[in-house]
Amino acid sequence: MTVMITGATGFIGRHLCAHLTGEGATVMAMLRQPARQLPELRRAVDRLGGDGQLVVGIPGDLDAPELGLPMGLQDVEAIIHLGARFGWRLDPAVAQRTNVAGSLAVAKLARSLGCRLVFISGFMLENRAHLEKLGITSDEPEQVNWSQVYRRAGSYEASKLEAAIRVRAYAQHAGIDLVEVQPATVAGHSESGELDRAQPLYTLLDNLARGRMALVPGTPEHWLPLVPVDHLARLIALAATAGEVPDRLLALDATTPNLRGLLTTAAHELGKKPPTRHIPMPILAALLSIPGVARIMNTPVETLHFIQPTRFETADQERFATEQGLRRSDITEVIRRTASFYAGQGGRTVSEPGNVF
Ligand SMILES: NC(=O)c1ccc[n+]([C@@H]2O[C@H](COP(=O)([O-])OP(=O)(O)OC[C@H]3O[C@@H](n4cnc5c(N)ncnc54)[C@H](OP(=O)(O)O)[C@@H]3O)[C@@H](O)[C@H]2O)c1
Repeated sequence: MTVMITGATGFIGRHLCAHLTGEGATVMAMLRQPARQLPELRRAVDRLGGDGQLVVGIPGDLDAPELGLPMGLQDVEAIIHLGARFGWRLDPAVAQRTNVAGSLAVAKLARSLGCRLVFISGFMLENRAHLEKLGITSDEPEQVNWSQVYRRAGSYEASKLEAAIRVRAYAQHAGIDLVEVQPATVAGHSESGELDRAQPLYTLLDNLARGRMALVPGTPEHWLPLVPVDHLARLIALAATAGEVPDRLLALDATTPNLRGLLTTAAHELGKKPPTRHIPMPILAALLSIPGVARIMNTPVETLHFIQPTRFETADQERFATEQGLRRSDITEVIRRTASFYAGQGGRTVSEPGNVF
């Protein structure tokens, strides 16, 4: 089987390439700079237990007209679209170009190749109350006031929501076989705990280790749902390769502890005192809106949206995972291993300040 992947060099993408090639699939990785990126990606895939030689690179860019791909692509059985500009305080036009226009260009490619599209969105797409608060009350993209959504949610989250809603509408109109995978915040590998420094959970651990988390955001109901990167990679691979797949797969471990529990497990591993008292979200959001505070606290206000009291219906995806033989790891143990990985790295700060919860 040949699967084309955008975002193959990213944190999830590398684990996905390792899993797919480990199963014997050929991965066609769309890369912005293949000459530089392909050798690095192959090394990463080998290190993660896959077969780097089964990864081929094709030049392409989500920002380029028609993705800047070479002519004559064929024999692709599925496209997995992971590529995105992932960060905080993004310029709305820039986020829209890469994350929305880029996603629609990938959907058009899937249509022209006549293959399945596995589109990676995010778990907030299943939080109806949150979508309504942002002003998203229709599945029809033209009915949504997107500039309001960008103002309320911040450009990263807004562009992911817009992309998902526009891709769904396009797929329905064009008759594309679309599977949407909706990941929660990604945790480290369930065995090694390995996590990229640019990942939001890494920054949360960094803030905890550096004493920037004296209080727990929200209430005891608030949580940050997680999914280990290897579990997510296997689920995405199944979304691309299995015969019958639900239209949407929420990749979220419903047994993730509340935020206080998460911080307590991580703090013990880091040898820190865990925060026990809560700070209400509106007060925290107001504090972070004071110029300079978000930077000092390494916490942009837009990241708070991902911490909510909402619980999610996961029965369908759990049934699919069970049918496919995909077993979940103990998420508290994954948090412990991820924190231990962080500690083993010497607790280096992230390269992009403000990439945090
Ligand atoms: N990590 C999470 O907690 C999480 C949760 C929910 C959903 N997601 C979604 O999962 C996907 C992957 O996340 P990740 O954590 O693996 O992100 P990541 O590590 O930041 O990787 C992003 C990937 O996108 C590629 N990319 C960025 N701009 C591009 C462009 N203009 N053209 C082509 N490729 C481009 C990057 O390529 P370069 O190497 O060339 O920069 C990289 O491979 C994203 O869609 C993200 O929104 C992630």
